[in-house]
Amino acid sequence: MPPQPPCAILSVPIAIPHLTSTIRESTFNYYGPVQSLLAFEASKYLATVTDAAEPEVASTINSFILATQTDCIGSDDEKDSCWLTIRVTKPSKEFETPRWHQDGRMFPYDAGREDVVHSKYALTLLGPRTLMLQPDADILSTVQRGEAKHFWWLQEHDRELTEDEAHTALRNWLAVEFKYETRVKVGHGEVVRFSWGREDSPVHSEPDLMVDRVFVTVLYGSESELRGMCDWRNVEYEKFIY
Ligand SMILES: [Fe+2]
Repeated sequence: MPPQPPCAILSVPIAIPHLTSTIRESTFNYYGPVQSLLAFEASKYLATVTDAAEPEVASTINSFILATQTDCIGSDDEKDSCWLTIRVTKPSKEFETPRWHQDGRMFPYDAGREDVVHSKYALTLLGPRTLMLQPDADILSTVQRGEAKHFWWLQEHDRELTEDEAHTALRNWLAVEFKYETRVKVGHGEVVRFSWGREDSPVHSEPDLMVDRVFVTVLYGSESELRGMCDWRNVEYEKFIY
């Protein structure tokens, strides 16, 4: 089987629930086995922090999990656990300047799974969609050039800035470099799949949060991989966190 490309849009869009506003900012996280209780808990949560109706959201989350788990490569055991997160935000200026980045490694891989393309799936229920650049050699070399230019710890540069300042300088520089770069088009209800932890993983950013936003992502792995992720993040496995 050929490896999955770093970025793709799933062929079937997901029905999006009627949702017009968020009540407050919050985040839902779950690391654990894929189970029916997940859509139930996620929809119960979303109905308390948005104006969406619980049964409609449950059906969306169910469809999202079914479509993405089916698309994910690997045997049943290799993708029976997941990390699902839902971000609910109010307008802010935080991403007025995009934060172009690639996602790093999310969990310790099971033996023999190091070379598998691991991906994350994203679906926007309300507001702007994630900004994503079509992965190609030019984009990746621009990121590398930017890091070499701004991260003094990678080069023989003198230390002129703190690490935070260097990250901010790189962020501003990439915002200019990628201002007119072609972006991946993600339509209403479309699920975007993008790899993480690889050299050619797609460069993406949170969108400018000019309006209320509700955004869902999921990734899959084996139970031991997701337990490893919990160890890295110091969170509990099989618990609804919000
Ligand atoms: Fe990211």
